[in-house]
Amino acid sequence: MCGIVGYVGSQQAAPFLLQGLKKLEYRGYDSAGICELNGTLRIHKTRGRIADLESLLATEKIVGTIGIGHTRWATHGSPSDHNAHPHFDCTGNLAVVHNGIIENYQGLRQQLIAEGHCFLSETDTEVVSHLVEKHYQGDLLTAVAQAIVELKGSFAIAVLAKDSPGELVVVRQDSPLVVGLGNQENYLASDIPAILDYTRNVYILEDGEIARIKENSVDVFDMKLNLLEKTVFEVKWDPIQAEKEGYADFMLKEIHEQPKAVRDTIAGRMDEHGNLLIEREIPRNLVAGITKVQFIACGTAYHASLYGKHVLEEFLDVPIETDLASEYRYKRVKADQNTLLIVISQSGETADTLGAMRLAKAKGARVLAITNVVGSTLSREADAVMYTHAGPEIAVASTKAYTTQLACLCMIATYLKEQVSGEKEITLLQALANIPEQIESVLLAHEHRLEKYARRLLHATDAFFLGRGLDYASAMEGQLKLKEISYIHGEALAGGELKHGTLALIVAEVPVIALLTQETLIDKMVSNLKEVKARGGNILLLAQSNSGDFSDVGDEILLLPQTHCLLAPLLTVVPMQVLAYYAAKVRNCDVDKPRNLAKSVTVE
Ligand code: M6R
Repeated sequence: MCGIVGYVGSQQAAPFLLQGLKKLEYRGYDSAGICELNGTLRIHKTRGRIADLESLLATEKIVGTIGIGHTRWATHGSPSDHNAHPHFDCTGNLAVVHNGIIENYQGLRQQLIAEGHCFLSETDTEVVSHLVEKHYQGDLLTAVAQAIVELKGSFAIAVLAKDSPGELVVVRQDSPLVVGLGNQENYLASDIPAILDYTRNVYILEDGEIARIKENSVDVFDMKLNLLEKTVFEVKWDPIQAEKEGYADFMLKEIHEQPKAVRDTIAGRMDEHGNLLIEREIPRNLVAGITKVQFIACGTAYHASLYGKHVLEEFLDVPIETDLASEYRYKRVKADQNTLLIVISQSGETADTLGAMRLAKAKGARVLAITNVVGSTLSREADAVMYTHAGPEIAVASTKAYTTQLACLCMIATYLKEQVSGEKEITLLQALANIPEQIESVLLAHEHRLEKYARRLLHATDAFFLGRGLDYASAMEGQLKLKEISYIHGEALAGGELKHGTLALIVAEVPVIALLTQETLIDKMVSNLKEVKARGGNILLLAQSNSGDFSDVGDEILLLPQTHCLLAPLLTVVPMQVLAYYAAKVRNCDVDKPRNLAKSVTVE
């Protein structure tokens, strides 16, 4: 998640580039830059926001009429001036901006260095500049087409060459790009909001399409450089709708971004045979000889840690503990040099989480962070970091951060098992590779039904979420989602606990969301649900598709795709997020900014 803009025309490029970048700042904001061509290529870039770039440019004379720009959300390499885009090749003849992740960048980088190329940043993007340089023989379009054949991963790329003045060459694979069509000028953007003030006529590039954009023409080709006929699409969205890509709220957009977010998170971290490739992120010596694993986190990230604890307990014999960071801070810290402390935080800035981490670190614990924000305090203070590649999460309610945290935890658990016992978990990883597609199918199959079901919650005061084992950990996240945005009181219960108190609250029509994905616990859960049924509770049941017939207990049954039981939480959470979202909508709540809450809790 970053933003790309480009301009070719008769006017100065800089005003469009800057305005376009401001419109895309919500997609990434740790550094920004532009490159303009005016006889020579000049790059202006800086760590920080677009306002910082503007200040930098205030003292410069920018007159080029062709240029590219980028606002970054770091994935590879910390936010810094040298990691900001655009990136030159060795000669300064080419400049490149890129969104997405080049999965095979390490191999390419080594190969290019061996061939004599000189790298100035830690980014995956820079391999693109050098690869295009390698293939460049005077025709930019051909060079880009040849270079991208060597790339694996997702990318939207724009390239500008000093030797090919008057044209931009851009390409898209799994990362959006649109070309805005103007009068004697054309525009490029990764996202429609950037160009809406200039034109509403666009070509939406499809995967594998390459475009050559000039002042008076836009030609679109396939990968083999056959010219394609494109249809002009007229954008009818208003600017706010465009920022949310047509979704009513950021939360809904982010729920729908989960297939891509999970795909990006696992990309490049395992091969097609299910082998893990994460040793570079988590060095062996970080985990060698550990005698205990502790998790700390808050809120949704804490619920992810409950998942992590459960999976690790299946795989390791050492004790696995999890604590709310705010509790950990005020109890006797029992960590030492052989403790692996796994700290989970979307923002990497949560005060309690950082405070707890520092206490454990002071006792010698080895810290492995899972965070979404490159360069965050957590990422800087941890001994090792595994980033979720979810992109910026704007809605206060965490959605894609959670599912990507689970994906990371699944890989970490598998890695630890491999390191400790030498045993691989190939079937689990193979099943993980299918999760993005399965989340897509859950949304497709059930969103509408959940929207309808949510109307039942219009006047609800309470809802109960029941599960056993791993389903109980998921139920915790389900209840938090519902209560934080719809203000309905939610409570998660381990199925067996019901009769120890809460059953007293189950009366006619009380909504009960039941999770039934853990094969060995199904019979026990069904008994618990019968207790609910007998008291008139209304059960929305989430189960894997081939695990049985539950029509006698479920009032509404949602069947989810079959997956490895340790991965079921990545699917069950999606309907619970959707339900919370639509319940909040029917109750007229501000979904993205729920009352009293903030996205990042940087005070204790
Ligand atoms: O940035 P963090 O992951 O450390 O934030 C922790 C919690 O504040 C956060 O998960 C919060 O519970 C969610 N916004 C709830 O959806």
